[in-house]
Amino acid sequence: MRWGADPVATEALTGVLGAFGCNRGVLFELTTRGDSGFAPTAVSAGLTSLERPIRFPADSLLPRWMRVNRQALPVPDDIGVFGALTSQEQETLREVSARAAVPLIVEKQLIGWATLSDRPDRIPDLGAGSSALDDIARRLLAARLAAEEKARADSLARTNKLSLTGEMAAGIAHEVRNPLAAVRSMVQLVRNGAIPASEQGQVLDNVVTEIDRVNSVVTNLMMLGRPSASRTEAVELMALVADAVNFCRAYARQRSQSLEIALNTRLWVRGDSLEIRQVLVNLLLNACQASGDGQAVLIQGRSDTDSAGVPVAIVEVVDEGAGIPPSVLSQIFDPFFTTKANGGGLGLCLCRDVMTRSGGSIVVTSEPGVGTRVTLTFPQ
Ligand SMILES: Nc1ncnc2c1ncn2[C@@H]1O[C@H](COP(=O)(O)OP(=O)(O)OP(=O)(O)O)[C@@H](O)[C@H]1O
Ligand SMILES: [Mg+2]
Repeated sequence: MRWGADPVATEALTGVLGAFGCNRGVLFELTTRGDSGFAPTAVSAGLTSLERPIRFPADSLLPRWMRVNRQALPVPDDIGVFGALTSQEQETLREVSARAAVPLIVEKQLIGWATLSDRPDRIPDLGAGSSALDDIARRLLAARLAAEEKARADSLARTNKLSLTGEMAAGIAHEVRNPLAAVRSMVQLVRNGAIPASEQGQVLDNVVTEIDRVNSVVTNLMMLGRPSASRTEAVELMALVADAVNFCRAYARQRSQSLEIALNTRLWVRGDSLEIRQVLVNLLLNACQASGDGQAVLIQGRSDTDSAGVPVAIVEVVDEGAGIPPSVLSQIFDPFFTTKANGGGLGLCLCRDVMTRSGGSIVVTSEPGVGTRVTLTFPQ
C-alpha cells in the first residue's frame, strides 16, 4: 500500500479487499479538509497510475447513487449505472482500474468506498460481505473521529499553553523591568555625583538588593515545571534546612529577626536537593517579610505517618507575623500573585509545584495578627 502510508486507511482497504478475495484497489474517503469530497487515502501496491490529484465532489453522481442504493457498483457497465456517471467520474474509475466500487456506510452515512481492481468476473455481493464491510466502515469512522477529537484537544492545549506563556511573559517582564529601572537610576545618580560619598554605600546595597530580586524571580521561574528526571536522588532534610537557614541568616539579621531550628533527627526523602532548598528559602523569606523587627521564625521537622498510616517527613515554617486574611489565602499559590510592593509572586507557586511533583504537599494555615504556619509533607 502507499499514498501517505496512512495506517488506518491501509487497514480498511486491506480489510475490504480481503472480504472479496481481491489484491488491488483504492480506498476513497470523505474528507472535510479543503473542498469537501471523496479522495483516495490508500492505494494498493499493484496500482501505480494515481499521479494527478483525484477528488469526487461530495454530491457527485457516484456517491449519490451509493447513498441511495447501498450496493456495489459494477464497472464498466456501459448500459447501466456506470454509463450514467459523468465522463470525469468514469475516467477516474478507469484510471484506478476499477472493476467495482464498494460503499462503506455507517448509519446511513456514506463515509467512503473502495474500488476493486482485479475482480473481473463477479460483482461483489454485499449481502454476503456486508457484515464484514459494516465492521470495517465502523472502525474506519471511529478512528477518524478519534483522530479529529485528538487534534481538537491538542489544538486547545496549544492555545492554553500559548496564553499561559503570554501571561507568564507579561509577569516576568514586569518583575525584571522594575528592578532594572531602579538599578539604572541608582547607578546614574552615583555616576552624576548626585549622591554624597557618605550615602553611596547604601545606594549600592540597594542595587545589590534589586539584583537579588531579579535573580530570585529567574531562579523560581527556571525551577517551575522542570522535567521529572532530575528528582530521584535521596536527600536529607536536616542538612537542607541548615543550608537554607544559613542562606537567609543575613537577611533576617538586617531586620533584627532570628531564625530558630528545631530539628535534630535526620529525615531522608526522595527529591531534588536544589528544588527543596529553594522551597525552604522561599518560605523563610516569606516568614521574615511578614514578621516585624525582633520577631522569631521557627523551622521544625519530624517523622510522622499520614492518615493512611504511610510514613512521611514533615517540615514546618512558623512565624508570628502579620498573618494572611482569608480572602488573600485562596490566592497565595497563584503565579504572580503578591501583596508586596516588590514581590514577584512566584515563591509559593514554585513551592507547590515542587511539592506536588515529588508526591508531597504544602498546606498554609494562618490567622491575621497571630501568624502563619506552612506545613510541608514529604513521602518517605
Ligand atoms: N508567611 C507569610 N505571612 C503572611 N503572608 C504570606 C506569607 N507567605 C506568603 N504570604 C502571602 O502570599 C503572597 C504570595 O507569596 P509568594 O511567596 O508566592 O510571593 P511573594 O512573596 O509576594 O513574592 P516572591 O516570593 O516571588 O518574592 C505574599 O505576597 C503574601 O501576601
Ligand atoms: Mg515569597
